[in-house]
Amino acid sequence: MNYEKAINAQYGQSDLGKKILAILEGEGLDTARLIQDILAPIEELHLRGRSATIELARAVGLNESMRVLDIGCGIGGPARTLASEFGCHIIGLELCEEYCNATEIINDRVGLSNKIEIRQGNALNMPFDNEIFDIVFMQHVLMNIENKERVLSQSKRVLYPKGRLALNTICAGSITPIHFPVIWANNPDINFLFTASELRQLISNSGFKELSWKDETKEILEGIERARSKPRSKNPQPISLGLIVADPSTKWRNIVRNLKEGRIEVIQGIFEKNQ
Ligand SMILES: C[S@@+](CC[C@H](N)C(=O)[O-])C[C@H]1O[C@@H](n2cnc3c(N)ncnc32)[C@H](O)[C@@H]1O
Repeated sequence: MNYEKAINAQYGQSDLGKKILAILEGEGLDTARLIQDILAPIEELHLRGRSATIELARAVGLNESMRVLDIGCGIGGPARTLASEFGCHIIGLELCEEYCNATEIINDRVGLSNKIEIRQGNALNMPFDNEIFDIVFMQHVLMNIENKERVLSQSKRVLYPKGRLALNTICAGSITPIHFPVIWANNPDINFLFTASELRQLISNSGFKELSWKDETKEILEGIERARSKPRSKNPQPISLGLIVADPSTKWRNIVRNLKEGRIEVIQGIFEKNQ
């Protein structure tokens, strides 16, 4: 299977947009509730969800005048968070067609289509002119991309001089291999993890100055333990992660196991494009 088909097969569920729309229709027109509540369990496909997006945006100095490229935008949860919390304009680039369709439907439903544009495409060949973005945002995407040099050079190309790269990603830990399946890969075919030090070096060699670098692994494990000790809500959720990702329980269990066993680490980094 070629790479694009493999990514679509990993993430895309058939008729996702229609299924989500049917659920949103059933939940009525309260936009705030759709954003804050109904979509919350599924729309941010990375560890620590919405809080991680807001922290990354603050760390990179996002403001409403900025134009942001969100690479591998998933079903658009991070873009909606950035648009609603910071008021900026976002272009989401996403390889998975079903996710692009679903994102457009949701954005329209919650009234954010004027702030967020979705482009279907590959981060290895970005369909954008040079120097048009203030910020490139990328959360939990690099794990799927083998040619990281190319994504970084493309990111550099589309950023304004002194533009910033905001990165939140999973890296390889000191123990290998990882347990599969995980959310980003059912098997090694589309799993391309660098260690944190390899990635850090590569970014600096790719023409970026490091502004901050943080290992979030310990904090994430503590958060998982805290969440486990809390009683679970008995109210059934209208949308669950199973709609977006196949077999989420097994994948989540493996992610936690990989974190605990030192097989994966989570990194947040902010970089500025060199002149
Ligand atoms: C784990 S999800 C994270 C989605 C989103 N960033 C979020 O945090 O909610 C990874 C996303 O990256 C997308 N992706 C993977 N490789 C890509 C590529 N080469 N170009 C564009 N998108 C890609 C996948 O289709 C998937 O939606």
